[in-house]
Amino acid sequence: MKVKSSAPGKLMLFGEHAVVYGFPCIVTTVDRRLYVEVKKIEKEFKIEAPRVKDLRFAEKTVELFCRKYQLPNRVLVKIYSDFSSNFGLGSSSAVVVNLIFALSQLYNLKISKKEIFDLGYEVVLSIQGVGSGFDLAAAIYGGTNYFLTAGREIRQLPIGSLSLVVGYSGVKADTSMIVKELRRKTLNKKREIFEIFEKIKNIVEKAKIALINNQNEKIGQLMNQNHYLLQQLGVSTEKLDEMCSTALLNGAWGAKLSGAGGGDCMIALAPKEKVKDVKKAIIKAGGMIINVKNNVEGVKIEI
Ligand code: MEV
Repeated sequence: MKVKSSAPGKLMLFGEHAVVYGFPCIVTTVDRRLYVEVKKIEKEFKIEAPRVKDLRFAEKTVELFCRKYQLPNRVLVKIYSDFSSNFGLGSSSAVVVNLIFALSQLYNLKISKKEIFDLGYEVVLSIQGVGSGFDLAAAIYGGTNYFLTAGREIRQLPIGSLSLVVGYSGVKADTSMIVKELRRKTLNKKREIFEIFEKIKNIVEKAKIALINNQNEKIGQLMNQNHYLLQQLGVSTEKLDEMCSTALLNGAWGAKLSGAGGGDCMIALAPKEKVKDVKKAIIKAGGMIINVKNNVEGVKIEI
């Protein structure tokens, strides 16, 4: 018997970094998916994933899953994806979530979404040492979620898809390094940095309401404010700043970096009639456009 499943990539809309320290964030899913196939075999566990650079997430997931449910790790795992792991769209968390889900189906285990999250979070922390788990929640629940550190609250927002433009900066960010660097900074400048986190939290709360009420201009303003605070935290780059400001100059309601910073992607929210201009401007600034639809289904079986 063989089980195939898929999970979506994600984009952080609001609240990155602060969410690592107990504050909320808002994350949405995108229609670039990662696929996993699992099959019982006679021999030892094997992974076939030519395009996955870091196999530790898959290996650790199988190890912890088999240990937790007392199963032999005699499985063949195949992984393939609609998107490059360079983009920062959450390929590692999509691997982890997919694998837990597919293995639970393969062994006929009834596992709740929260159980997938908890085991997935254990995997991520054991490898990265840091992280809020927001990307796991996105891959599991799908849609757009208001998320609190370590999954203390995961609430799906009743919204549709947004008119988002996604620009890849061409630089692969090392998320855990950036998160750890900021953690070191918080040791010296705790008050200053936590004041910024508080401001980010206020933006997230306002964004939640603006998103539910479909207030694009307001959402855009809040994105700009969030980006400014991320600049203050020192996680943006010249290239990301340039891509954001050119998006604004060309008609976007708002723009910000999305994720850890240091590279990866920026996002802009733009009126439909301005999307083409915004895309062109981002390309001119040296970015690459990733065409996605957001707010899609979470982990699911593929036939
Ligand atoms: C990285 O995409 C987002 C961070 O907030 C880290 C995390 O929440 O795990 C910087």
